[in-house]
Amino acid sequence: MSVAYDYDVTATTPNDLEAFWMGFTANRAFKRRPRMVSKAKDMHYYTPEGRAILDGSAGLWCSNAGHNRDSIVAAIQKQAAEMDFAPTFQFGHPLAFKAASRIAELAPGDLDHVFFCNSGSEAGDTALKIALAFHAVTGKGTRTRLIGRERGYHGVGFGGITVGGISPNRRFFGSLLAGADHLPHTYDREKQAFSKGEPEWGAERADALEGIVALHDAQTIAAVIVEPMAGSTGGLPAPKGYLKRLREICDKYGILLIFDEVITGFGRLGFPFAAERYGVVPDMITFAKGVTSGSVPMGGVIVRKHIYDAFMNGPDHVIELFHGYTYSGHPLACAASLATLDLYRDEALFERARAMEPIFADAVMTLKGKPGLLDIRTVGLVAAFDMAPKPETPGKRGYEAMEHAFHDEGLMFRATGDTIAVSPPLIINESQIGELVEKVGRTIDAVM
Ligand SMILES: Cc1ncc(COP(=O)(O)O)c(C=O)c1O
Repeated sequence: MSVAYDYDVTATTPNDLEAFWMGFTANRAFKRRPRMVSKAKDMHYYTPEGRAILDGSAGLWCSNAGHNRDSIVAAIQKQAAEMDFAPTFQFGHPLAFKAASRIAELAPGDLDHVFFCNSGSEAGDTALKIALAFHAVTGKGTRTRLIGRERGYHGVGFGGITVGGISPNRRFFGSLLAGADHLPHTYDREKQAFSKGEPEWGAERADALEGIVALHDAQTIAAVIVEPMAGSTGGLPAPKGYLKRLREICDKYGILLIFDEVITGFGRLGFPFAAERYGVVPDMITFAKGVTSGSVPMGGVIVRKHIYDAFMNGPDHVIELFHGYTYSGHPLACAASLATLDLYRDEALFERARAMEPIFADAVMTLKGKPGLLDIRTVGLVAAFDMAPKPETPGKRGYEAMEHAFHDEGLMFRATGDTIAVSPPLIINESQIGELVEKVGRTIDAVM
């Protein structure tokens, strides 16, 4: 392999792209024909050659405020010069407390306490551990089962893949955590195809939790974790009434409900958290991505007061929860997050996403009727286009679409199997929505 990709003429080590083993990537195909970006501003990436790429995926569902926003860049630069790192085990720094307060303030109900980590995967595992520990410290140590959902994605830690429902993410990794179970996913093409927003059909799929309780006994179940909208498996919005029903059943049996809002948090569905859109207060919310608009890694778990309080017992010199990450509440992440939250507030970006939702939905639905297009789903500023797979080679059409879009249309989106997933930064304007949809339309025509 000898693809040269050096833009630094003084480099002494040849960059043939081989050393970097890229995650969730077809490495050989990428390295044969790289999709490389080296600069970004607002709605666009730029290739090293200077070609503009419309960002149809907010990076990886994270750059909600758009790229390289001046105030975020300045906050990171200032903090880097002021204090690069400080531990948050037994010591602290003011920005971490401030960021936690600001994030908790955005969450509904008494979701008042924030545990920081660095990614959505760590947030998922942290929430699951808090759930188990909560039951242990409140005398309900038999509650150890974790319930996820088919087609769910909660990152790549062992906890996350255990409750996750994506087979390739699980199958090579042993027996995972013991005792987990899964709810059915909420998608049924026959009943939901081409629906805008939350589908009418599907709330009844929450009732499967009753069956899981009947099978395992409520006293063995610690928590249920779901994404309010399953992002990674193709933008599956929660059916109308589904999350409320899940909340009711969890309450009935003393099971904690965790919303994974790593994608849906920070405006993607037009609200700070999807919990607010759906009028449901979970016991914990996991977040990451949009909290810094993707500028510095940060994640976390917001927990309800009674959960935090349950740990605040015993001698006060004793550590209450044996969990945490070196970089929990990293100063650069906190500075980035505070600047990002200011920007969301000052530019009313969550409200903007809500106002844009119907315009976006109408625009994406104009592609309905394209040959080979099996479904379009949309909610908030998310849209997913299911293309018919090629016979014998599922996923190939999706890959070709991503390649075509990048190289020939100047568009970045996520391809998941043969589904095109679109989730632009919340600053997208109407003409850019039009451009995005046109590019997606031409891409579908090109690969069909
Ligand atoms: C819902 C959800 N949870 C967790 C994660 C994992 O986040 P990370 O890649 O930051 O570990 C993702 C990533 O896409 C996600 O979409």
